[in-house]
Amino acid sequence: MNLMLFGAPGAGKGTQAKFLIEKYNIPQISTGDILRAAIVDKTTMGMEAKKFMDAGQLVPDSTIIGIIKDRLAVADCKNGFILDGFPRTLAQAEALGELMENMKIKLDKVISLNVPDSLIVGRITGRRVCSGCGASFHVEFNPSKKDGVCDYCGGELTIRKDDNAETVKSRLEAYHSQTAPLIDFYKNMGVFMELDGTNDVSEVTNDMINALSSLILQIPTASSSYL
Ligand code: AP5
Ligand code: MG
Ligand code: ZN
Repeated sequence: MNLMLFGAPGAGKGTQAKFLIEKYNIPQISTGDILRAAIVDKTTMGMEAKKFMDAGQLVPDSTIIGIIKDRLAVADCKNGFILDGFPRTLAQAEALGELMENMKIKLDKVISLNVPDSLIVGRITGRRVCSGCGASFHVEFNPSKKDGVCDYCGGELTIRKDDNAETVKSRLEAYHSQTAPLIDFYKNMGVFMELDGTNDVSEVTNDMINALSSLILQIPTASSSYL
C-alpha cells in the first residue's frame, strides 16, 4: 500500500505514521526526518538544508527529489510506504509521479489531516521529539508515559530547533502558498481524502484505519502484498 500523509506542519502526520508502520509493516518516509539526520551527520546536504529549515522555508526541490529517489529504491519500500511531508510543491509531486511510473507502482491514497492554523502553534510549541526514532509527543495533548523518554525506543525527547512561534509562521505560509495547491492535484487524481485532524490522536488513528480498510477491500486479490 503506497500512502501519503498530507497536512500543515503540526497536523499530526508523523504521529499517525507511527501507527501505520506498525499496522501495515511498511516504512515511513519523512523528508523532514531524513534532513534532520543529515544535519546530525553534518553532511554537505544537511548543512545546506539547515539554513532553509531554521528559517521555516522549504528546502530546494532538487535536493528533496534526490532524497526521495534514493529512498524509494531501498528494498524495504517494495511492499509499500508512507510518505510524510513529501511532496510539498508541484515540482515534487510531478517528480514523484514520474518516479512511481518508472517503478510501475501507483499511489493508493493521500490522507489529509485537516487542522486549522489556530491550533497549530500550540501543537508545535509543545512538541517533544525522540532523538532516537523521531517519534512525536506533546507535553499536554500526547505525553510520553515517562517524562522526557520515548515510549517506542527509550530515546531522549528533545525540542526541534524549528519548533518556535516565529518559525511556525513561515512554515504555515510556505504550506499555504506552496503545498496546499497540491490538494487539487491529488483530487484530480482521485486519491485524495480528508480527515478531521483536530480529534484526539487515537480517534484520528481509528478514522484512518477505517478508511484504509475499505481501500484494502477494493484492491484486487493479486496484490496480496498490500496486506
Ligand atoms: P517536517 O519535519 O516535515 O516538519 P513539518 O512539515 O513542519 O511537519 P511537522 O513534523 O511539524 O508536523 P507533523 O504533521 O508531522 O506533526 P506531528 O505528528 O509531529 O519538515 C521540517 C522542515 O524540513 C520544513 O520546514 C522544510 O524546511 C524541510 N522539508 C521537509 N520536507 C520537505 C520537502 N518535501 N520539501 C521542502 N522542504 C522540506 O504533531 C505535531 C504535534 O502535535 C506533536 O506534539 C504531537 O504530539 C501533537 N499532535 C499530533 N496529533 C495530535 C492530535 N490529534 N491532537 C492533539 N495533538 C496532536
Ligand atoms: Mg513530522
Ligand atoms: Zn524513540
